[in-house]
Amino acid sequence: MIKNILFTRVIPNITISMLKEKGYEVDVNEKDQVLTQPELINLLKQKPYDGVVTLLTDKIDKKVFDATPSTKIFANYASGFDNIDIVLAKERGVTVTNAPTDLTSISVAEHAVAFMFALAKRLVEADKFVREGKYDGWAPMKFLGNSLSGKTIGIVGTGRIGEKVASLCKGLGLKIIYTNNSKNENIERETGATYCNSLDELLREADFVSLHVPLLPSTTHLINETNLNLMKPTSFLINTSRGAVIDEVALEKALRGKVIAGAGLDVFEFEPKVTPGLTSLSNVILTPHIASANLDAREAMGRVVAENLIDFFEGRVPKDIVSK
Ligand code: GLV
Ligand code: GLV
Repeated sequence: MIKNILFTRVIPNITISMLKEKGYEVDVNEKDQVLTQPELINLLKQKPYDGVVTLLTDKIDKKVFDATPSTKIFANYASGFDNIDIVLAKERGVTVTNAPTDLTSISVAEHAVAFMFALAKRLVEADKFVREGKYDGWAPMKFLGNSLSGKTIGIVGTGRIGEKVASLCKGLGLKIIYTNNSKNENIERETGATYCNSLDELLREADFVSLHVPLLPSTTHLINETNLNLMKPTSFLINTSRGAVIDEVALEKALRGKVIAGAGLDVFEFEPKVTPGLTSLSNVILTPHIASANLDAREAMGRVVAENLIDFFEGRVPKDIVSK
């Protein structure tokens, strides 16, 4: 039987060509914008779709499952999958896959380290200073920053991305400490990383804290007002995971009050909205959820999405099932 697949938005071509090669019928929503849920539901009602390729901006909940009872698989074009109600998917026997790849993990890890450099060296502030015509000559104490070498990075979550951050940081001469659901023998062996028994211990010791956990009920507001206070006043917080892992209002307050030295944020709790106040602070660097944004990484994600769908429809277990 021919399979009907809906793409909720245009993604790199590779995914579509791989599916068409298998003879699947592919419909792509050509509107290059985030869909509202009613728009998404309208699209889903066009046809009895067997599979849907979703983005992290598509909220897949009961209303969507109800609108498309024919859909047996949602293949998310993302490493994260917090946009999909995986508990309900499981109840309904619907498969959900995500799309982790080495290239996306590397790209996200590089973005985290880019934030570390930019914060330590005050790159964004300094650039603004020069552009504003304020540079009046070299001075011994102008824009004093920090080196990364010799500092301690605290990695929260050592999945594929956290592991890549560890190996980059090892190369840069940082001491590595981490928390994870369980000890990660791999990074301990490869990078000499030390396991912390608690997040509190990591927050007290680290000069840079980088978050690499999925957004789950247990990681929502993992970083909050109470534990921000444990961090050193000289430390920096980096988030390239999901915004809601941090209580963003509490973070804004901590940055304003210099409870910590600064932050690098690629994701926001109420994305695309940014908590008022953050944009007026000079000790935070803000990027618009672009940590994996390079064409190689995005094509690799696209291949994985197609492979997961093809495996599913050919009766194999897809590699990246998350609805377990
Ligand atoms: C991006 O945030 C992703 O989950 O791929
Ligand atoms: C990255 O893609 C991951 O799953 O960590």
